[in-house]
Amino acid sequence: MEATERISRIFPEEGSIPEFCQLAAPMEQTGYLVGGELRRWSGPMQEVHSPVYITGPRGPERKFLGRYPLLGEAQALEVLEAAVQAYDYGRGQWPTLSVQDRITHLEDFAYRMGAQKSAVVKLLMWEVGKSYLDSEKEFDRTIVYLKDTINALKDLDRASSRFVMEQGILGQIRRAPLGVALCMGPFNYPLNETLTSVIPALIMGNAVIFKPPKLGVLLYSPLLEALRDSFPPGVVNTVYGRGAQVAGPLMASGKVDVLAFVGTSKVADTLKKQHPKPHRLRSSLGLEAKNPALVFPDADLDLAVSECLLGTLSFNGQRCTALKLLFVHVDILPQFLEKFCQALGCLKYGMPWEPEVAITPLAEPSRPAYLQELVADARARDAEIVNPGGGTVNQSFFFPAVLYPVTDAMRIYHEEQFGPVIPVVPFRHPDAALESLISSNYGQQVSIFSSNDDTIAYLVDRLVTQVGRVNLNSQCQRGPDTFPFTGRKDSAEGTLSVHDALRVFSLRTLVAAKETEPNKKLITGILREHKSNFLSTDFIF
Ligand code: G3H
Repeated sequence: MEATERISRIFPEEGSIPEFCQLAAPMEQTGYLVGGELRRWSGPMQEVHSPVYITGPRGPERKFLGRYPLLGEAQALEVLEAAVQAYDYGRGQWPTLSVQDRITHLEDFAYRMGAQKSAVVKLLMWEVGKSYLDSEKEFDRTIVYLKDTINALKDLDRASSRFVMEQGILGQIRRAPLGVALCMGPFNYPLNETLTSVIPALIMGNAVIFKPPKLGVLLYSPLLEALRDSFPPGVVNTVYGRGAQVAGPLMASGKVDVLAFVGTSKVADTLKKQHPKPHRLRSSLGLEAKNPALVFPDADLDLAVSECLLGTLSFNGQRCTALKLLFVHVDILPQFLEKFCQALGCLKYGMPWEPEVAITPLAEPSRPAYLQELVADARARDAEIVNPGGGTVNQSFFFPAVLYPVTDAMRIYHEEQFGPVIPVVPFRHPDAALESLISSNYGQQVSIFSSNDDTIAYLVDRLVTQVGRVNLNSQCQRGPDTFPFTGRKDSAEGTLSVHDALRVFSLRTLVAAKETEPNKKLITGILREHKSNFLSTDFIF
């Protein structure tokens, strides 16, 4: 069957959904977590519809998944108050708890979270259209991140559980929490990229408010009780609703000490500007990117094709790290395009629960129309869709379109498509691609495909000042999570990794005293009788 014909009938009937991923009934999630209580909300609710359409008597319709609370300013400020009280200017139970005790709470949460895997994975798949397999991977990766964070903190604490003596002064240097952290993740990794800030923020002793992204809220329902029961009241709280109504007032209160946000630079700028004392706010931001790949004639072509395919199309290109511009050397363009389009044609497309499915419906309702605009703009400037069926749309489903030849006169060259449109730009000299990066607003990562050490060395030395990671003969990606994840210009603020995140959410703080006998006696007494959690030489095994 022709791709266009298959795509016109891509959405299934209810009866053909396999049992393992069926939802019992729409989820009425009326609770939000505030001050250790799952408070019921009886105000306005947000309806949630899946990107997956179900074909019924009235034709295909988005599957209705449930509802969540649309809180307002008053509720957001109540949640804030709960976090402020739990932190209590650093005097609360949580920020003063020993590292070992905080770790125990996180271990408890990991255990409770693990028990909710199938419910969370199913909702993740339905809410953002991520394949079942990738939804499982996102869940598992988050649990691994949690465990790695615990181990990293143990390491950090072991190194800090000793005194240093310098110039007649003795000191103990540890990391202390910052206060109230507002954590906001993106829809493409609604679980992982929210919890990878919530977990380090919590474990370092901060009180947390987290706001799930607009798409990807219901998947937190099965975790709310685990969050409530694993931590002291007010240490972790949730808000739902429109950014302007809930996140705006939180920032404007001046009581948010750390903002961890993944999304657009426009929203990040708005949030930061709302804080009355910006110098008091620490920010960790993951923003837009337009990562290019440079494919040279001496590259292993099969490898370059398979990595570029993964890089452009994993989760339909809805990744900040996706390859969003392919610069291909003119000498291998015909071979590259032929192999790339052939490999693309072999990708399985369909519904997220289908085994080995690679292309699924797009999460954001407005994305297909936006991608069509980008394609139309490029075609009006002489680019063509070079793969069969490319750009065929059925509701939320968009079949990947390879555009060639793309030039800097086209919108797709500059705008982050965040979807399955693959612009191929011909180049002769690597400096052309380099210039494009220099003039770009973004600077997250780049991929180089070549087997020539001169080419690689020349480019590495010039690219490390443009981006945060240069990938050799592989696609761009965030992982492994122990590697630093960062970017320049409009792509990021700060660096995240298991190791770095612990530092993002804390401040190096020390207790120092002159090395006199009375001071030594004083400190020895505190240590011997375990009177302080900060001033302590206890070693965590
Ligand atoms: O959306 C951006 C994510 O951080 C990408 O992570 O490279 O593991 O898909 P990933």
